[in-house]
Amino acid sequence: MFFASGSGSNFQAVIDAIENNEIDAVITGLITDNEYAGAIRRAENHNICVSIINNFGADEAAEELLSVLKGWTPDLIILAGFLKKIPDEITRLYQNRIINIHPSLLPKYGGKGFYGNHVHKAVLEAGDKSSGCTVHYVNENYDEGKIIKQKTVDVLPDDTPETLAARVLAEEHNLLPSVIRQLLNQK
Ligand code: GAR
Repeated sequence: MFFASGSGSNFQAVIDAIENNEIDAVITGLITDNEYAGAIRRAENHNICVSIINNFGADEAAEELLSVLKGWTPDLIILAGFLKKIPDEITRLYQNRIINIHPSLLPKYGGKGFYGNHVHKAVLEAGDKSSGCTVHYVNENYDEGKIIKQKTVDVLPDDTPETLAARVLAEEHNLLPSVIRQLLNQK
């Protein structure tokens, strides 16, 4: 099952990989904290259950989240552009079963405040010659769980945060399905 807050292009990449028989899995559902997330339409187009949790972070929301997860009994939980912190109770309960995709070469440009274009802007301001994306396990601390796999992307001299973001995102769409396939095959 997936968590997503935004457009859901990574979520879509995994839906496509399943439909092309590249991954043998069923997506049990999508949880979002944003009722306007593009990911919702993608889920609906593929008959995937959606749960919208408002007030993510509040105690009642954590309980609702736990009850949804218990109903869906996921083998793997994938954060694909999910911008809120997962409650500690849940990271502990699903230890080593929650993964996240992040648009930098962690541990660089990780942690609170580093998401989306903020990451790419910081990479360009630092003058880095390369960037990339990372899939890692989720623990109680933002972007600090064990790294599973990374893909490096060159930073070009005329890059803007938007052009760099697009090049990294294209690699994310390969990296995330490949890690999910690898993890499910290890089970
Ligand atoms: C992706 O670039 C993902 O790595 C990033 O949000 C974007 C979501 O795009 N995630 C983070 O920054 C998490 N810290 P998408 O909605 O099109 O998949």
